Amino acid sequence: RAALALALLTIVVSGCKPAPLPDAASPGAQLYANRCGRCHVPYNPHEMTASMWDTQVTMMEVKIQAAGMPALTSDERESILEYLKRNAGTE
Ligand code: HEC
Repeated sequence: RAALALALLTIVVSGCKPAPLPDAASPGAQLYANRCGRCHVPYNPHEMTASMWDTQVTMMEVKIQAAGMPALTSDERESILEYLKRNAGTE
């Protein structure tokens, strides 16, 4: 009984954590978290559609430049967008 209670508690507690990034161990996810998780937590890719991500990354490149951070290289931009679009929402 105690073991069951503990198992249930574990499910409840982990259910309250913010959803981890999808496919978090992939190189795209790590690059995304690293380049896009500095000023705010990295948003979950599901929160926007693929075309919204195109716009969003362009807008964020302006913020990155304004903050004096190194600009995304075209490789980085491509990997991040590929990751975001692969996991993007549909509406
Ligand atoms: C230099 C700091 C900085 C970095 C780095 C940064 N952001 Fe942002 N981001 C912001 C700020 C500030 C906002 C708040 C909204 C605004 O001011 O436009 C924001 C907002 C957002 C939003 C929410 C927009 C909305 O309408 O709710 C998304 C999504 C986002 N960023 C994605 C990204 C992605 C993707 C990257 C990496 C390419 C990134 N951010 C990197 C500063 C940053």
